[in-house]
Amino acid sequence: MPLSTGRVLAAAGLIGGVPGAALVLLLATDTLPPLPGLAALGATAAASLALARIWLGNLRQLSDALRQAADEQGPVPALEGPLLLPSVAEIGEAARRLTRTLASQAEQVARLRQADAAIIERLPDPLVVLDEAGAPLRANGAARRLFGGGGGVPGSDLAALLRHPALAEAVAAARAEGEPQRADIALPVPVPRELTVHAVPLHPPLSDGGRLLLLLSDRTRDRAVERMRADFVANASHELRTPLASVIGFIDTLRGPAKDDAEAQARFLGIMADQADRMRRLIDDLLGLSRIEVTEHQPPTGRVDLAALATAEAEAMAPILAQRGATVALALSPAAVAAPADAGQVGQVLRNLLENAARYGREGGTIRLSVAPAETGTRWPARPGVVLSVADEGPGIPRHHIPRLTERFYRVDRGRGRSIGGTGLGLAIVKHIVNRHRGVLLIESEEGVGSTFRVWLPAEASAEAG
Ligand SMILES: Nc1ncnc2c1ncn2[C@@H]1O[C@H](COP(=O)(O)OP(=O)(O)OP(=O)(O)O)[C@@H](O)[C@H]1O
Ligand SMILES: [Mg+2]
Repeated sequence: MPLSTGRVLAAAGLIGGVPGAALVLLLATDTLPPLPGLAALGATAAASLALARIWLGNLRQLSDALRQAADEQGPVPALEGPLLLPSVAEIGEAARRLTRTLASQAEQVARLRQADAAIIERLPDPLVVLDEAGAPLRANGAARRLFGGGGGVPGSDLAALLRHPALAEAVAAARAEGEPQRADIALPVPVPRELTVHAVPLHPPLSDGGRLLLLLSDRTRDRAVERMRADFVANASHELRTPLASVIGFIDTLRGPAKDDAEAQARFLGIMADQADRMRRLIDDLLGLSRIEVTEHQPPTGRVDLAALATAEAEAMAPILAQRGATVALALSPAAVAAPADAGQVGQVLRNLLENAARYGREGGTIRLSVAPAETGTRWPARPGVVLSVADEGPGIPRHHIPRLTERFYRVDRGRGRSIGGTGLGLAIVKHIVNRHRGVLLIESEEGVGSTFRVWLPAEASAEAG
């Protein structure tokens, strides 16, 4: 846009007004001769006009540059042409520096915003950001894994969580009081879950408008462990209390009514010995179980010749087998070598399985104990290794009990199990030992036919390769 003539004239008037008026006065009073006086007046006017043009032009350039920078949100462009007013050049330079600083600050803010989003996304705990209205804005990766949903968008399960009265209450309280609130929530569907949610109000809000942060922690596993521990303590004390009560009862009887009855004394002492033995075994098993659990995450290191071990264990079991009139049929492959494996623990697996087969198998039946390299190509096991199996001809185990047999204290027929002397820990021990060996336990049973317990264990690397 060209400079307007009016402005130029006005500016020239400001610059040359005073000297021009002085010259006119001198001319009018004949103090100056007319010719030089008029020449001086003309020169003053011309110089004023020229200065005014330059002055206004420079200022116009500066304001255009600033306007352009503001419109484009970019840097201030360099001023062109001669800048006769040095201050204009300085102002231009200062403005350029200012815009550079602003630009780098904006870049920093953008980076911080990205960092915000990245931190929330990457945190291992599930986080959900709610907007002013309490609607979910963003859920991080952990929250999406917990609730479904993708691309930062919360899934539909989250809607169910947000509708939960306890959470809604915590969110409302967090907003009203401006302080973090906590809610414990149990979600029954799609899978039962227990969550602890912390609702943290955000002042000031996040760059994306997030007003409230929900920190979720999945307590399902912890709660299950707590319950298991409580059950365990209750079970263990119950299992100990029964024989203890019976021992105490017999002591009272021996001191009182049976004081002089030698025959009754002998009988009661026998029962007491049995009960004491039962308590000792229970404590041994519990200690053994916790020892195995402690080392469960450390794989064993030795190698175990299963054929030799099975022979030894079957021989050691002879008295118990004889009691039940059972015989053991061995089918042992010398190639069955488990590794890495712990001989003591694999021996314990064999003992517990043989003892069960003797105890719960058919009286006078046959127990088939076999060890062999795993047959590959069959449905189970899918991997090369070794398999030991103990099969009995007992009444079998109803199908719905099978998945629970390895739970501590689990007995199919509680009354009968106890009368036979079982504590329900044998298979729990087997399971933990097999887990430590990174093995697999498979229980198959047909009612009226018998039960087969199979354990797959990893074999030595060379055997596995062959
Ligand atoms: N071979 C089997 N045939 C039928 N039932 C079995 C057999 N093995 C185990 N069971 C059932 O599984 C339950 C759990 O077995 P487990 O070995 O864990 O405990 P237990 O034999 O009762 O006691 P423990 O082994 O600690 O002395 C048994 O009580 C029994 O009901
Ligand atoms: Mg047992």
